[in-house]
Amino acid sequence: MKKIVIAIDGYSSCGKSTTAKLVAAELGYAYIDTGAMYRAVTLYFLTHHVSLTNPKEVNDALDKIDITFHYNPKVKRNEVFLNGLNVEDEIRKMYISNQVSEVSVVKEVRHAMVAQQQKMGKKRGVVMDGRDIGTAVFPDAEVKIFMTADVDTRARRRQDELLEKKQLINLDEIKENLLKRDLIDSTRQESPLRRADDAFLLDTSHMTIDEQVEFVLNKVTSRIFNG
Ligand code: DC
Repeated sequence: MKKIVIAIDGYSSCGKSTTAKLVAAELGYAYIDTGAMYRAVTLYFLTHHVSLTNPKEVNDALDKIDITFHYNPKVKRNEVFLNGLNVEDEIRKMYISNQVSEVSVVKEVRHAMVAQQQKMGKKRGVVMDGRDIGTAVFPDAEVKIFMTADVDTRARRRQDELLEKKQLINLDEIKENLLKRDLIDSTRQESPLRRADDAFLLDTSHMTIDEQVEFVLNKVTSRIFNG
């Protein structure tokens, strides 16, 4: 069957990655969490004290960064590696969430990540989630979804996710972080977060994960069979 690109964009903590992962598993596609890539860059920049306003420093650092994904069968998920080191847990911590949007604004960072993501999806057969997949990375994606949900629901979901990782964070702090990131992500100059004209809108505020997956799979089926 014809392999396609499925782009899932939207606000922070709408359930993009959970949905994308399950859709990919259902179709036997690769899943690429592009947010994890920006988080890994942020981790590197913070540990190496890279100045975001110095393009040479940024480019030199980007040249030294190698980001890869590897499947971990024990936990049945793709994990992100930065220069050969598993950083999956570290990049989900709040200190990274608090800085990642500022790093993602930097033009050089975006160019490097977008180029790498285009390479990863070149053979198609991928589900990619992020903020600019349907608009900048794969504007020709066959199926585009733009996810949203009300902010209180998103904050509660994020809190549950963090709790599972043994991080107890106050709901107000999470909400503030989500709103701040949404604002920076959607107002930046370079490929801001916005719904592509041909993206299906999916408001997950009152939906279960199964319903979200079904919504996406229906769009995929109709695209593959009806063109
Ligand atoms: O999906 P996430 O919450 O892990 O993403 C973390 C941050 O990375 C998000 O606030 C903005 C940035 N990001 C981006 O700018 N472009 C993408 N394609 C994915 C993420």
